Amino acid sequence: MSSAVSTTQSPDEVRTIDTGAVPTRFARGWHCLGVSESFKDGGPHSVQAFGQKLVVFADSNGALHVLDAYCRHMGGDLSQGTVKGDAVACPFHDWRWGGNGRCAGIPYGRRVPPRARTRSWPTLDQDGLFFVWNDPEGNPPLEEQAIPRIEGGLSDEWSDWVWYSVEVDTNCREVVDNVVDMAHFFYVHHAFPTKFRNVFEGHVATQYMEGLSREDVAKPALEGEPTMLGNTSLASYFGPSFMIDELVYQFDTGDIESILINCHYPVTANKFVLMYGIIVKKPAGLPDETALHQARGMGDFIKLGFEQDIEIWKSKTRIDNPLLCEEDGPVYQLRRWYEQFYVDVADVRAEMTDRFEFELDTSRPVEAWRREMEENLARRAEAGAEQAGAAAGAAG
Ligand code: FES
Ligand SMILES: [Fe+2]
Repeated sequence: MSSAVSTTQSPDEVRTIDTGAVPTRFARGWHCLGVSESFKDGGPHSVQAFGQKLVVFADSNGALHVLDAYCRHMGGDLSQGTVKGDAVACPFHDWRWGGNGRCAGIPYGRRVPPRARTRSWPTLDQDGLFFVWNDPEGNPPLEEQAIPRIEGGLSDEWSDWVWYSVEVDTNCREVVDNVVDMAHFFYVHHAFPTKFRNVFEGHVATQYMEGLSREDVAKPALEGEPTMLGNTSLASYFGPSFMIDELVYQFDTGDIESILINCHYPVTANKFVLMYGIIVKKPAGLPDETALHQARGMGDFIKLGFEQDIEIWKSKTRIDNPLLCEEDGPVYQLRRWYEQFYVDVADVRAEMTDRFEFELDTSRPVEAWRREMEENLARRAEAGAEQAGAAAGAAG
């Protein structure tokens, strides 16, 4: 008879996880709600964001507006109403609300009560994308948090936006952590980073990454498709939730230039809507459909990556005190940067916005990953040879 005895460690030897607490407010900044056109179909749209319900609608000039969804009369849901002229009409008693938040009319009433005003949210419709400004202090948008123009956003030389949206059941800090997390690109995304650098300054957090294509990871074998060799990515968060990624894929047939957007808005403290979209620069002389096809192909490829992240987020815990090794990126510094969007403007400290630069020494990870890749390839070759041998035996 055998027995196994396990010994207990004394508690002071054990690292414990501090899960912290999710923030009690939502980040100050522009939050993209999606492709502008998707809100311009003539009807009001319901959006659950920042712990409440909003209504988005276009006036007769096509300008988009965001109001609190619940009507200040008797609480009707404006997102279930109708757009009439320049106002959204409540489905309950037809009160009309203009984009500026003022009650624009009560068809059955003699006059509009003097202070009939609901909350109107600052908006931005730029380069085909629609944004709403959230500020728990109620101030107008900050000039220094402006969203930069995207050159190809509405240009004929680029494809249309291919856009994806998915709800994720966790706090949105998880997606922002990716900015510094080099190692997960290998293990979760089957990528192979070879260069990795971060710069945080002001309201911008940047990740620069170069990578190779993994030879040991099976990719869908598409007849006649070019072989992907690697990619370079220059990705910056402008504010708490909107990332622009200048992403170039190198194929054996040439480079494909794209702009990838990675953005989100919080629904509650424990839920967010993750969105990503891509446009591709049209190769000279090729028809529009080819560029759109390319954008869809790349978008679907990127979708796999986000699905891999979501799978991890589903089961992981929130952790405020990650235990890091030297080859991990600057998680704590990134979170300090991120903190600036969760405090009042008066409480933003220099350490949250001062320039911080960090280049990861990738020599050790690259060496380890190359070895792992070679082992995987050798194992696969062996399995292939065995299979071929068995087939030959069966035939003979
Ligand atoms: S509740 Fe909206 S009009 Fe009455
Ligand atoms: Fe990721």
